[in-house]
Order: sequence, then structure tokens, then C-alpha cells
Amino acid sequence: MKKLIIHQNTALSHINREIYGHFSEHLGKCIYDGFYVGESSDIPNTNGVRQDIIDALKEIKIPVLRWPGGCFAEEYHWEDGIGPKENRPVRINTCWGGVEETNAFGTHEFFNLCEELGCEPYLAANMSGGTVWEMQSWIEYITYDGNSSLAKKRKENGREQPWHLKYVGVGNENWGGGGNMTPEFYADEYRKYQTFCKDYSGNRVLKIACGAGDGNYDWTKKVIDRIRGTNPYGISLHHYSLPTGNWDHKGSAEHFSDDEYYHTIKDAVYMDELIEKHGNIIRGLENKHHPIALIVDEWGVWCDVAEGTNPGFLYQQNSMRDAIVAALTLNIFNKHSDIVKMANLAQTVNVLQSVILTDKKELIKTPTFYIFKMYAPHQDNDLIDSRLENDILENGVPALTHSVSINKERQLVVTISNASLEKSYDIQFSFDDKKSYSVKECLILHADKEACNTFENKHYVEPENYNGYKTVDGKLSLSVPDTSVISLILE
Ligand code: AHR
Repeated sequence: MKKLIIHQNTALSHINREIYGHFSEHLGKCIYDGFYVGESSDIPNTNGVRQDIIDALKEIKIPVLRWPGGCFAEEYHWEDGIGPKENRPVRINTCWGGVEETNAFGTHEFFNLCEELGCEPYLAANMSGGTVWEMQSWIEYITYDGNSSLAKKRKENGREQPWHLKYVGVGNENWGGGGNMTPEFYADEYRKYQTFCKDYSGNRVLKIACGAGDGNYDWTKKVIDRIRGTNPYGISLHHYSLPTGNWDHKGSAEHFSDDEYYHTIKDAVYMDELIEKHGNIIRGLENKHHPIALIVDEWGVWCDVAEGTNPGFLYQQNSMRDAIVAALTLNIFNKHSDIVKMANLAQTVNVLQSVILTDKKELIKTPTFYIFKMYAPHQDNDLIDSRLENDILENGVPALTHSVSINKERQLVVTISNASLEKSYDIQFSFDDKKSYSVKECLILHADKEACNTFENKHYVEPENYNGYKTVDGKLSLSVPDTSVISLILE
């Protein structure tokens, strides 16, 4: 029996709802043929965006959406994506498959979508292929509530009131595809660009600097050191989990060995170390009056593309393995919610670790979707101090991860993931002051590691009510099967 000790009166940090965020790029079938089908489509839509996608994202309470890239952001020119669609220029998406970008989905479509979803928009601004003025004028166009020429243009294009814009990322992966910059050069450019991220008409923009990929601690250190005094809201971190660890042969999303499974889990658990180490650097260098948040604005499982699909479109299936990765990663983000203030899974629809897959009129919700649904009750709660006895599996990965949070009604939200393919665990709960709780809700997602939802069998992996718990002598215990994720609400 493993012990889960919960100090329910000790709140450690606030779990920002934005930790449960998403990321959507002009890549493959994420925007076109994914979100956006156009106003005249016979697929039900709101302003051209599929209604079933809007409904599904509301179901998981999407708190924030990052757009338009990724790499694409660094070749995106916002003025291409406004005005009558027939006049919008056609560009080449040189990042992803060399396909023609019609710009039919642009600023109005994105901001109206975020309003419809009730989520915060997070813009990734072009800093290596654009100009300071492009970035500044984009913010003015979106947020200025007056009669400047840009605000008038927005009104002529159908939007009278400005939109709310909370987050602007200054650049994307500028150590790589975003200009191959050195940290020193990026930091100097950041200082310049962020100066012109202006606040108009009471809107307040929070600026996010481009941070490291994986364990490039040197980048984090040098950038933070050199952008001192500019008070960014945060600095980003990107980390993808690969089944084989090899970028040339990443491994299949559908058929994989136990070794590949555990490798993926290990790579996902590495997020804990990355946050710890980047976090320590940030804490050591930040101005105490202006703490800097860590924004994990790209994460997820990255496999080889599905057989027969365009290699530039990054389309992959999504299995129970991905669900375990999502569950353990969200537990890691909760654990570090004192510094991780936003995270964005890559990439919402039809790309990498999607929560939704579409095929013409059809839509499926992936196992990862259901993890976001089961974990949504953590949003905006306080993280509670808790410890869970663990088990280390043969390849050094911990079998279990967990989080406990408390909501405004003083209910406890508990999530537990078990990555072991063979072992189940019994867990005994213990609370401070010998207080006992009753189970209001208990859900489980439990399936074989390769189990997927397909267009032929859309509901194969879905959470179910779970009654594998009991209370004996006032003590609550729970049985956690192998390869499963459990969520509980206790009151
Ligand atoms: O998510 C796919 C790509 O991964 C993004 O465009 C880029 O930022 C990262 O390298």
C-alpha cells in the first residue's frame, strides 16, 4: 500500500488556468481543414470555424490559445490576413510543406474565435522576418479604441470595438528557425521590440521573451541577464517527447514497443528537471519585484507522421500513451505552478499531440482530450502540499505522478497517473487533523498503451465512472490499475 499524505490546510501556489492552454499554428491541417472550413462550408460553423471544434474546446475549458506559430509566426505578416478574403495575398508556407497560404484565417478570425471560446489570445509576434513597426501596429490595430487610421481600418473590416489582448510572445525559437540568433543578439533585439509593445486604451500586454529549447540553460541565463530592467512577464521553454529520442526516426504514434513507450514517458518526465533547472536560473537572476514566469508554450509527444500523410503536416494518431504523457506533464506543471504560469500543448487539431482529429465532416476526441477534461477542475485552484510514495520502474522512471488542489468550495481535486504497463498500486489517503473526505466524483481513463480513438471507433478510449475506492475505519484508499489516469473530487 502506498501512502498519499495530504496537508489540506497548506496551500502552496495558485494554479493559473493558462497552464491548461493550447497552441495552434498554420501547419498541416490544424487551421485549414481543421479549425477553419470557411463560412460557406456545409459543416456547421461560426464565422468559418467548425462548431464541433468550438464545442469540444469549451468542454475542456480552453483558457488560452497561442497563434499563429511556431516557426510560421516568424514569416507571418498580419496585414496579409485582414480585409476582404478575395484580396488577401497568397503566400508560400515555407516552414510547413511549402503549401499555399491563402490568409483566409487571420486576425479577425482568430480574435473572434478566442471570444467565442472565452479564452485568452496569445500572439506569437514575428521578430526575425518582420519589423518593429509591424508588431507595434498589429497591437494598435487589435486594441486601440479611437480613430487612428489602423483602428478605422479594423472598423471598416467589421470590428467596431477593440479586442482584449493579454499575451504577446516576442519571437519564436530565435535560437533556431526564428533567425538562428545568439542569446546576446536575441536579448538586444528583444529589448528593442518589447519597447514598442504598447498598451492602448487600457489594454495591458504581458510580454514573453523567447526562451530555451530543452536543456539549453546557457540561453536562459544569458537572455535573462541581458534583458534586465525590461520586466517581461515570462520567458518560454519548449520540450517535445520523442518515442525513440532520435529526430530522424522518432517512432510510430500507433505501434510501439514497451521500450519506446517507456522512453517516451522518461522524456516527458524530464520536464520536471527542465522546469527545476530553468526555474532556478530565473529565480537567481530576476528582480524580486518583478518575478519572471516560465511559459512552456510548446510541449507534447512528437512521432513520425502517419503513413501516407504529408511529412510537412506532422499528422499523428494519439494513443493511451499520449494520455499518460499529458497527465503526468500536467501534474508536473501543477507541482511547479509557483513559476509555470502558462503552458500550451502542441497543437490542438490534427498536428502532433492533438486533442482533436478531423476527417472531412467527422471529428474525434483523442485520449489526450479526455485528460484535459479530467484535469480541468484544477484550473484556478490552489495547489495543496502533498506527498505520494512512489515506485521507480526498471528504466528509472517514476510509476506515479499526482496533484492535489483545493477549489473555492473547499473541495479537493486529486489526479493520479500510473505509467507502469504491469503494476497496479493501492493508495491510502491520509489528511491533516484526521479529517476524512467523501468521494463526490471519481473517473478513470484506462486502456492498453496503443489504444486510440479512430474514425471507425470514435469512443474506444473514454473516461468512465470508477468505483475502485473504499473507506474503511474512516480511511480512504484507492486502487490504481496499470496504464491509467484517475481524477477525484473529494468533499
Ligand atoms: O510545433 C511544431 C514546431 O515545433 C513549431 O513550429 C516550432 O516552434 C517547434 O520547433
